This record gives sequence, structure tokens and C-alpha cells, in this order.
Amino acid sequence: MTPQDAVLGWDEDTNAEAYAAFTRAHPMYDITSRDLARRARLDDARLVVDLCGGAGATARAILDLVPARARVVSVDNAAAMQRVGRRTLTDPRLSWVTAPAEQLDDHIPSGGADAVVCNSAIWKTDTLRIFNAVAHVLRPGGLFAFNIGGGFAGVRHPDAQLAPEGPSLNTLIRQVAARDHGYTPPPAVAGQLPKLPLATVTGQLAAAGLSVLDTEVTAQHSTMAEKKAWLSVPVFARPEGDFTHAQRMEILDAAYALTTPETPTVTSWLVVVAHRPPRTS
Ligand SMILES: C[S@@+](CC[C@H](N)C(=O)[O-])C[C@H]1O[C@@H](n2cnc3c(N)ncnc32)[C@H](O)[C@@H]1O
Repeated sequence: MTPQDAVLGWDEDTNAEAYAAFTRAHPMYDITSRDLARRARLDDARLVVDLCGGAGATARAILDLVPARARVVSVDNAAAMQRVGRRTLTDPRLSWVTAPAEQLDDHIPSGGADAVVCNSAIWKTDTLRIFNAVAHVLRPGGLFAFNIGGGFAGVRHPDAQLAPEGPSLNTLIRQVAARDHGYTPPPAVAGQLPKLPLATVTGQLAAAGLSVLDTEVTAQHSTMAEKKAWLSVPVFARPEGDFTHAQRMEILDAAYALTTPETPTVTSWLVVVAHRPPRTS
């Protein structure tokens, strides 16, 4: 089964437009997409899959690196995201498949892909099924490059420890919501483990017949102003619970007013490059 929250929110036009506008106005998804596309060594690729490709930010990065004769297939289960992508990214090498990433192997020929790239999404999916499907579509020697948000992987880049003191925008949002809207945060679960640590990823990849070639914890440097813009996209808006988007934006504005826009922020990522081992003769 595709995880329950996989489509919720993403398949709404207002969200898709807001998300795509964010990816064009701010470098966050472009930087991580370009990093993965570079690691996937695409210079000779003929077929590349952009897994959970959304509105095309990652496809743009891939298209910049593949040869003129290559094909890129962007797979995502949110039709609304792909509607924006189809309208704004019209490269003849790119096609769109609206389907759960877990069913990738129904849409790509077995052993036909030189690389699969998945930016900023894998922890939302059923990774065991995804890794099996990726192993099925990759040619021997083909590469699979993806990243996992630091909180989900349980990693923190050293730069994140050097970030300036002071509450995060998320903390301020919770404080303002409690003060002005009677919000009660859900109780913290003591000892909660990260959802997708490297050991789990490595084990699942190995079970699917893929092996890890390289991993790196990276730091993405940003500002409070970019974080605020990101938290304005409906799927990312907080706090959770029974709030309208307008209320969340009111809370965000009040929380943001307590910060300095240029304050640096750091997001950690675990980047993984795996491959389907080449055939040995
Ligand atoms: C943060 S966006 C990333 C999109 C794109 N890679 C980028 O960097 O802009 C996450 C995307 O993952 C998609 N997604 C989440 N779970 C999925 C699943 N199980 N199958 C297909 N798409 C999924 C969502 O629809 C959304 O478009």
C-alpha cells in the first residue's frame, strides 16, 4: 500500500502552485536536486527516472546534465503537482507518469534505467517497495541517488550546531499558537527513534539487491526569510491540528515578526548513492 499521507495535500492545485512558486523563488530544492543529479553521473545516460518528481524542480536539474538524446521520466502520484510541471517545463526529453513511486516498475522497462534520482521525498514512501522497484528498473551498474531529511535519518551536520542561538521558527510558531489560539502541542514521545536511519536504509537496499556506494551528511544553509516562505506552502504550514490555512499564516506572521529575517538557518541531509552491482563475467 502507498502510505496514507502520500497524496494528501500534494494533490491540490493551490498547494502545487505555491510549492512550484517556492522552488522557483528560493534555491532550496534546486540545490539539493542539483547535488543528487551530479552524484548520479548522468553524462552518458539514456533513461533517467525522477522519482517523486513533483512539479519538476529535480527534473530541471537532471535535464541540465543528461545528453540531448536522453529521456527523463518524472513519476509522482500527485496529478496537481504534475499539472504545474507540464505547464512550466516543456522539454521534449521529459515525460510525466502519474503513479505511486512504489509502482515504478509498472512504468519503466526492466533494467532500462541508467539512474534513478529522488529528491526530498523518500521518507514519505514505502521504502522497502521503492528499493525493490528501483532494483528492478536499474540496469546493472545503474545508480540510485536520494536524500533523507536529517530529522528522519537521525543525522545533524556540524554546521547545524554552530547555527546562532535562539528559538527556531517552528518553536516560535508553537509558542504563538499556544498564546493566541489555545494550541496544545502533542506530547513529546520520549526516546522516539528516527524513521529512516542509514542502518535501516542500507539493510533495505541490500535486501532489494542494491548496495551503497557513498553516503554524506550535508548542510543546507538558508535564512529565516526562506524558512518563512517554505512554511507558507500549505503542505508544510504549521502547527498541525485543527487550523485553517489563514490562521496558520496569521500565526506564522506573528512568529516571524519575533525573528530577524537574515538569521542563518541550517538544514541537515543524509545523501545516499547506491547502485545495482554491475554484472561480473
Ligand atoms: C517535497 S516534494 C519533492 C518534489 C521534487 N523532487 C522537488 O525536489 O521539487 C515531494 C513529492 O513527493 C511526492 N510523493 C510523496 N510520496 C509519494 C509516493 N508514494 N509516490 C509518488 N509520489 C510521492 C509528492 O506528491 C510530492 O510531489
